[in-house]
Amino acid sequence: MTGKVYIVGAGPGRKDLLTLRAYELIKKADVILHDALIGDVADILRESRAEIINVGKRSGKHRKTQEEINQMLVEYAKQGKIVVRLKGGDPCVFGRGGEEAEVLAINGIPFEFVPGITSAVAVPESVGIPVTHRRYDPAVVFITGRESRERLNWEALARLNATIVVLMGVGRVGEISRLLIKHGKDPNTPVAVIERGLSDKQRVLIVTLEKLPNKVKEEKIKAPAVIVIGGVVELFGVLGGAVKI
Ligand SMILES: C[S@@+](CC[C@H](N)C(=O)[O-])C[C@H]1O[C@@H](n2cnc3c(N)ncnc32)[C@H](O)[C@@H]1O
Repeated sequence: MTGKVYIVGAGPGRKDLLTLRAYELIKKADVILHDALIGDVADILRESRAEIINVGKRSGKHRKTQEEINQMLVEYAKQGKIVVRLKGGDPCVFGRGGEEAEVLAINGIPFEFVPGITSAVAVPESVGIPVTHRRYDPAVVFITGRESRERLNWEALARLNATIVVLMGVGRVGEISRLLIKHGKDPNTPVAVIERGLSDKQRVLIVTLEKLPNKVKEEKIKAPAVIVIGGVVELFGVLGGAVKI
């Protein structure tokens, strides 16, 4: 009998931000394939009876190719196993959850998405930056710094009156800053860069859109980081000192 694959969000890297559903599935899984960015959720994995496989990828250094991961998901499910595919944050926010689900659907494998708390919201929030606030922009847009950014309509984005949250953007801050300013975004728009959010190595950089590229270079900011562009960043000055995690 075919098993089932659960495509599960591990949240932003803290075990107490894992959902109960994810916790239950980790306990009952036969196999768990997890990514790199799961933080201390790794402690919870040690409580599981499952075979644990780290398929984590960190910029360029692929432990397993996406093809191999897809293959493994299909194979384990065909063996009748309960498979947990554990991903950082939410599996469908720049997490390839949708792509893996397509492979499962094509192969007739039952699957389920189990949402997780995305870093795009949780990381800014953890330092006192709510991604929406009624005094500021009435929308929020998540963008990626990866290749697919080339398909973005930067002019529309610059004029949207939206908080822009960038994932995987550290290596692209020069281009992001240049394109937004070129298309009319105020160079003085406040920006927050939160490196290694929700960990004891967290760093927060507050800067303007114009100065973003130089500051990121000067401070040697590295991935993973969430970048927030918009008026809500001003709230860091009010809430940043008071918020405690
Ligand atoms: C491949 S994307 C996956 C996003 C994930 N699916 C989510 O919903 O959070 C990885 C990016 O998420 C962001 N990220 C994830 N965890 C983070 C953390 N603890 N601190 C800062 N950024 C984080 C970074 O931008 C990183 O490059």
